[in-house]
Amino acid sequence: MKKVAFTETVLRDANQSLIATRLSFDKFEKILPTMDKAGYYSVECWGGATFDACLRFLKEDPWERLRKIRAAMPNSKLQMLFRGQNMLGYKHYPDDVVRKFIQKSVENGIDIIRIFDALNDTRNVKVAIEETVKRGAVASGAISYTTSPVHTLKNFVGVAEEMKKMGATTICVKDMAGVMGPQEAYDITKALKEEVGLPVILHTHCTTGLAYATYLKGIEAGADVIDTASSCFSGGTSQPATETFAYLLQQLGYQADVDMAVLKEVNDHFKPIRNQYIADGVLMPRSLTTDTDALTYKVPGGMLSNLFSQLKQLNALDRLEEVLAEVPNVRKDLGYPPLVTPMSQMVGVQATQNVLQGRYNNIGKEVKSYLRGEYGKAPGEVNQELVKKALGDAEIITCRFADTLKDEFEETKAKLGDKVRCDEDVLSYIAFPQVAETFFAERKEREERKVSYSIEKIED
Ligand code: CO
Repeated sequence: MKKVAFTETVLRDANQSLIATRLSFDKFEKILPTMDKAGYYSVECWGGATFDACLRFLKEDPWERLRKIRAAMPNSKLQMLFRGQNMLGYKHYPDDVVRKFIQKSVENGIDIIRIFDALNDTRNVKVAIEETVKRGAVASGAISYTTSPVHTLKNFVGVAEEMKKMGATTICVKDMAGVMGPQEAYDITKALKEEVGLPVILHTHCTTGLAYATYLKGIEAGADVIDTASSCFSGGTSQPATETFAYLLQQLGYQADVDMAVLKEVNDHFKPIRNQYIADGVLMPRSLTTDTDALTYKVPGGMLSNLFSQLKQLNALDRLEEVLAEVPNVRKDLGYPPLVTPMSQMVGVQATQNVLQGRYNNIGKEVKSYLRGEYGKAPGEVNQELVKKALGDAEIITCRFADTLKDEFEETKAKLGDKVRCDEDVLSYIAFPQVAETFFAERKEREERKVSYSIEKIED
């Protein structure tokens, strides 16, 4: 009997795709010991946007969150998403920082690191994969899946083969936009199984409604693991439902070693939480429906919900359709980058600016860096007129950008002095300087308040 395993995404991708990563630790703390018994292949619980959201919005130390999850789930494989040389941020970091981040992630409890580069430029995942292997964790090489005139099956297999050589022991096909159809999933899975020979993990989103069929055909071609979310946090811009897939796979004669009773308990825990997010307006009904426009726009779930909230803030939600229509144009001009972080933000913001302020009248700083080659090699040809307009005669980088960066960790640590308490703090600071500094100051304040409160109590 062919076995299919599950990566549960409710704590990371479902959380990120449906409610802009606003799920605080106290909302899921109680259910962790139950989740620990579900029989998942892994629990994706960290990395991606969770790190930034913890510091910025939830006032949580992301490292402490990880340690608490680890303690509550001793039997589960904890998984994180890592953007190669971008780590969890939006620019490239020097190698010493990338290595330290991986080291600390593993030390604090991570078992599996899913590593990808937005442009599938494998020079940008090499250091992260090597360090993950060195620290004894599983390096899962992820291909940023997209469709474009320059993305071919051969091209994807080549990326996976390079990742295998670097030390990846599983390959994930990461379709962040939900645009991969059943036939494409079948073909890419078959090609990867035959030519690369590593276990294949499929990751997609329900955005376009294709996901259930896509996984099923991928499984027929030999996929080993699928990414799913507890049902009340599934669908729409999130993943297919864990329970539904467990049920349908068992019916089709596959071996799915998850405990249905535990899955129900997990879902019963999250249901009222989901309902509260709907009531508060954080979870918008639109994020929960099927939108086939994404087959044209190729916009991932997280990007869609970000665009909604951005335009809502700008009081320009009525321009959404125009912005979505501008996205493919910007993407073409940039040489068809897959729309995954940080490219999705970059393209989204530029498309918004193009619509609101006129095409390329305002070119974002990140777009300029991209055009300069700071993110790696564009998959296709970049619009040379745009390059000229953005950069003038400035030099373009063709080497791996991180090779131009000086080591940063020790210097930053020394500079921060007693503002930080541990190496993890230093990494938080390097990833998000201003946000982390505010967080450190508020953390200190909170603790001092606690101390004075307990002193008052004693004096009573
Ligand atoms: Co995703």
